[in-house]
Amino acid sequence: MQTENTIQSVRDILKPTRGAGRIIGLVPTMGALHIGHISLIQAAKEQTDFVVVSIFVNPTQFGPLEDFDNYPRPIDKDIQICEQNGVDLVFAPSVNEMYPAKNITWVEVEKLTEPLCGRSRPGHFRGVATVCTKLFNIVQPDIAFFGQKDAQQAVVIKRMVADLNMPLKIVVCPTVREADGLAVSSRNKYLSQEERKDAPLIYQSLSSAEKLIKSGQRQPEKIIEEVKTVIGRSNLLQIEYIEIVDAETLERITRLSGRILIAVAVKFGSARLIDNILVDAS
Ligand code: PAJ
Repeated sequence: MQTENTIQSVRDILKPTRGAGRIIGLVPTMGALHIGHISLIQAAKEQTDFVVVSIFVNPTQFGPLEDFDNYPRPIDKDIQICEQNGVDLVFAPSVNEMYPAKNITWVEVEKLTEPLCGRSRPGHFRGVATVCTKLFNIVQPDIAFFGQKDAQQAVVIKRMVADLNMPLKIVVCPTVREADGLAVSSRNKYLSQEERKDAPLIYQSLSSAEKLIKSGQRQPEKIIEEVKTVIGRSNLLQIEYIEIVDAETLERITRLSGRILIAVAVKFGSARLIDNILVDAS
């Protein structure tokens, strides 16, 4: 496995790889790799011939009061995890390599970035769309792999690729969870012992919402009420949003039908966690 820090060296390595007709897969990450990221690497190994993992804590997707400075950066451990999982190339650039000058060119996906996390994180998806465009231009992958854990991000990136005719396919992989249901996240490290004990309530609330839908409930308010009740069993959890939206347009729906997304964001003190489930309500 090779580890590179510059755009030029990545291009130099990938040119002959592409020339030899090998299918290139990209797994974009911010590092602090866990089993969720590893599941994307495994999907990339299965579906492509040459797997690139990018590790870059992207400053343009963090708000001024967010955790950019404190975000974990265990780079040596991350490189080891990539090596153990059969990655071919790690691209771990510095901020200066990715943004040598103050960025004045942005990729802005409208509408889809307004609801859910877009409301409390203005500029977040502009940063994500811009850095993913840069990574796609640097690596020029045939397929890029994203997690359903960040449902809105996956929808935004898919739409960006379609709207801008980017020559790659986006594959979205299922959310990997701890044994108690908590979605694996680099930010779970921020939870205290008590908070960690209550954190499975997030997924439990989504699962009971799904049960309600399967038993015929079609009124979004009733389902949101159920999610609130389950999360409300902990007084450590503060709800930022609970929303039921169309899985593709992310628009709020008044009556459940088709593929819907139930998405929640909660806060435990300063830690912010998100989770979601896709339900077929047809
Ligand atoms: P990061 O949070 O490191 O996540 C990288 C990828 O791993 C994302 O596609 C995310 O959805 C996926 N992922 C995280 N936790 C997961 C889980 N429990 N199960 C399945 N997949 C999971 O998302 C980002 O980084 C950044 O915004 C990035 C796309 C790299 C742009 O900077």
